[in-house]
Amino acid sequence: MRRLEGRVAIVTGSGQGIGRGIALVYAREGAHVVVAELKEHRARRTADEIASEGGSALPLAIDVSRREQVERMVAATVERFGRVDVLVNNAQGMHAHKPFEEITDEDFDIFLISGLKGTFWAMQAAFPPMRRQGGGRIINFVSLNALNGAPGLADYNATKGAIGALSRTAAREWGKHGILVNCIAPGATSKRTIEFFERNPQMAEHIREQRPLGRLADPEQDLAPVAVFLASDDAHFVTGQTYFVDGGAYLT
Ligand SMILES: NC(=O)c1ccc[n+]([C@@H]2O[C@H](COP(=O)([O-])OP(=O)(O)OC[C@H]3O[C@@H](n4cnc5c(N)ncnc54)[C@H](O)[C@@H]3O)[C@@H](O)[C@H]2O)c1
Repeated sequence: MRRLEGRVAIVTGSGQGIGRGIALVYAREGAHVVVAELKEHRARRTADEIASEGGSALPLAIDVSRREQVERMVAATVERFGRVDVLVNNAQGMHAHKPFEEITDEDFDIFLISGLKGTFWAMQAAFPPMRRQGGGRIINFVSLNALNGAPGLADYNATKGAIGALSRTAAREWGKHGILVNCIAPGATSKRTIEFFERNPQMAEHIREQRPLGRLADPEQDLAPVAVFLASDDAHFVTGQTYFVDGGAYLT
């Protein structure tokens, strides 16, 4: 029996990286997946991959930095599939690392609006259908960096810390509606991170030597199974938690 059979899941930023991995594995577990992604060609690519495996996907080109587009994402999902069971707020706009004193308002807004506001708007938009259905699952993306103050990322770290606070508050307010809200803090992964480590080999070496499991994460093999668990019946008594799926990086 597949664990998400017939469920309807929106995964933002699922054109590549972690979001793509979750979208593919959700579809293999029987979910109808809405591939909500800024870049249209990436949305189509992931949806095509799902279809080629016999899964069900709806590609949607949307920018989570725009409230009206986030609302359209949820409306299009309900229109197509009749409900929203799972919302994964994975999308996050990025810019290059900068020292604290050089971060501009425009830099800060790239993180804050796509990450925090995008997550907030999507949660608000998904609330009415989830309440109507008698429940739902929301999975938000945070980072260990918000706790350990990783240098060069003050605006990113602040955004991820705020998403954690938003999630815990919603978990308390919406538990009575059966809406469970949890967070995943992934271990270092993705093309962009791997490229960063290629430019900074001493940091890759540090990971290999210091981290308990000594390697980068694979989105499909290492991260998606936890996202499946949080969306599944097995997690029916879990809310307000943050899962550090990071091979033990939390300890280092
Ligand atoms: N990769 C890591 O090592 C790592 C570590 C900790 C936390 N995270 C978090 O995990 C999540 C996924 O990270 P990733 O490395 O897979 O990212 P990524 O940059 O590889 O992929 C993000 C995807 O989101 C899309 N996207 C960006 N802005 C968007 C917007 N405004 N609207 C819709 N889609 C948008 C991009 O086009 C891209 O396809 C992010 O929230 C990130 O902050 C990642």
